[in-house]
Amino acid sequence: MSNTAADTEIDMDTDTETTTTTGESQEEVKAEWTDYDFAGQPKLSVENLNVWYGDDHALKDVSMDIPEESVTALIGPSGCGKSTYLRCLNRMNDRIKVANIDGSVELDGMEIYDTNTNLVELRKRVGMVFQAPNPFPKSIRDNISYGPRKHGDINKGFLARLLGQDDSDEEAELVERALKQAALWDEVSDRLDANALGLSGGQQQRLCIARCLATDPEVILMDEPASALDPIATAKIEDLIEDLAKDYTVVVVTHSMQQAARISDQTAVFLTGGELVEYDDTDKIFENPESQRVEDYITGKFG
Ligand SMILES: Nc1ncnc2c1ncn2[C@@H]1O[C@H](COP(=O)(O)OP(=O)(O)OP(=O)(O)O)[C@@H](O)[C@H]1O
Ligand SMILES: [Mg+2]
Repeated sequence: MSNTAADTEIDMDTDTETTTTTGESQEEVKAEWTDYDFAGQPKLSVENLNVWYGDDHALKDVSMDIPEESVTALIGPSGCGKSTYLRCLNRMNDRIKVANIDGSVELDGMEIYDTNTNLVELRKRVGMVFQAPNPFPKSIRDNISYGPRKHGDINKGFLARLLGQDDSDEEAELVERALKQAALWDEVSDRLDANALGLSGGQQQRLCIARCLATDPEVILMDEPASALDPIATAKIEDLIEDLAKDYTVVVVTHSMQQAARISDQTAVFLTGGELVEYDDTDKIFENPESQRVEDYITGKFG
């Protein structure tokens, strides 16, 4: 039976009516669509998160628990607030002067927006990989060891040698481990002292992932990590993300539905206006979403 115009209209209405056929308010139904049940404790727990850039209300009342050791994909049309949301998870938005943030984000039950949160420590635990690879203009080795040295986990240089605390062996081990984890070791093991800017885009992105892993994070935030890469480099990053989820909590923004479907365990769909519309198992979101707007977005009717 083909859909009549009237049927379609009724379907479309499911997102805008104030009550449903079973009598719940639209608010309750919407809360249900974003209320994702999973076993175990959440690694990150976000409650009523709002972000304004000046008068622009970019993120509206988002509540969302993120399970540990899994991949959570964030999808939605451009400008819907995905990067804004991601940056809230390690307080990167603090750096944006016009940004005003309200709400709660807990990491293992501890409020990260607490005034006495140590931001260096927070960003060590919740690392970030950006859309465009941004290696330091230093050697491959130094890119990896920079973070651990800054955090005092590795001592190197003249003073350390003088004090008998030179950690060059530890550094070599760490560099090898991080590069192997990021599936880059085989390509660069013979040129660790070469400048990182001489690597290809895909290699630079894997180096940035290795750099992030070297500080031993618990959560890895990735904002479209493969959007500038060719299909082969993208496949490597995707394999890597799936692999990382065995030990880390990965949250990844992607514009590619196929990528979200391939690599994630659960998917959160944000839509225009900074609203989290639906959050569930990835299979459920792509095969049988509750919200008509999400279905329209996924099937390419808009966005
Ligand atoms: N630093 C900023 N100053 C002012 N407004 C901003 C800033 N960053 C983002 N915004 C605005 O907030 C809204 C959400 O932006 P955000 O970058 O989070 O979207 P997005 O979903 O990541 O988009 P895209 O898919 O294009 O990366 C947009 O309207 C954007 O213009
Ligand atoms: Mg973005």
